[in-house]
Amino acid sequence: MSLNAFPPRLRERVRVSEPLGQRTTLRIGGPAQYYVEATSLRDVADTVQAARELGLPLFVLGGGSNLLIADEGVAGVVLSLHGMKKINVFGHKVQVQAGANLNTLVNRCSVEGLAGPQSLAGIPGTVGGALAMNAGGRYGEIADYVERVIWINPEGELQSLYREEIQFGYRISELRHGVVIEAVLQGQPGERAELIARAREILQQKLAAQPYSEFSAGCTFKNPIGQSAGRMIDLAGCKGLRVGGAVVSDRHGNFIVNTGEARASDVLELMGLVTRRVFEVHGIELQPEVQLWPGRKALAA
Ligand code: EPU
Repeated sequence: MSLNAFPPRLRERVRVSEPLGQRTTLRIGGPAQYYVEATSLRDVADTVQAARELGLPLFVLGGGSNLLIADEGVAGVVLSLHGMKKINVFGHKVQVQAGANLNTLVNRCSVEGLAGPQSLAGIPGTVGGALAMNAGGRYGEIADYVERVIWINPEGELQSLYREEIQFGYRISELRHGVVIEAVLQGQPGERAELIARAREILQQKLAAQPYSEFSAGCTFKNPIGQSAGRMIDLAGCKGLRVGGAVVSDRHGNFIVNTGEARASDVLELMGLVTRRVFEVHGIELQPEVQLWPGRKALAA
């Protein structure tokens, strides 16, 4: 039995054919072949090891907020770090586990007078997910605050990396090839009331410009250098385009919204349609920002 690859103490917590759709902000996607919710570093290490033994790919689930999971689900091991969410502020630094909610972190930093991460206010997801894709917005990205990260690297080794040793790019980082366990972020001393106000202001801007309360995976496409994908999609007349239950938001062109019954295949088809129209109008091929599980080829096949 394949479950034997997991140590006995973990085995009873492994869920087979676990539905994933409700764990994503798009509310789309089939089941995970195996699903594990880690509550300790040991759980993470054992799950990584088990996936290796089984010869199955490992997928790390954060807040599910930038994710499009195939209707067929995910053949592999899905690891959630929701049970690991401790946040410890000390001075102008904060030690945070990967499963912590990013907005909870921002709020804690504000309350404790740690300035910096407020620029990330309103970005959904977990700290691990934010680090794996270098989440950010107009005011900054998480890489700006990283001092060091402890992760399990692609070779399966536990490793501590300083900021200078980690490659971060625009909505991408090498950390997505491993499993982030925890990080130390650094900011500056700040004044509590000001920081709370600053975070609230950034959140209000997002609420005004984005379909925040609807089911979506945030921005669907990356911004081409010096351009706004949302504006390009808008100018190409794509707002309101629909495939099945998936619609291009009227509020922000770069958001695809699940109006209730959308399937991953609807979203993919709509993404294809938008990409083609934008290319016809602007001569630029948009690149997806949402992560596709189990991968674009497999989904499109
Ligand atoms: N615009 C339009 N029509 C639209 C959408 C936008 O004309 O339908 C215009 C806006 O008026 C603005 C410009 O395009 O002048 C840029 O739009 P916005 O300020 O909304 O920012 P964005 O570049 O579309 C980026 C991030 C968002 C982040 C916001 C705010 C990317 C791909 N997107 O959006 O991130 O929330 O800045 O900081 O980098 C995400 O990553 O999921 C995400 C939502």
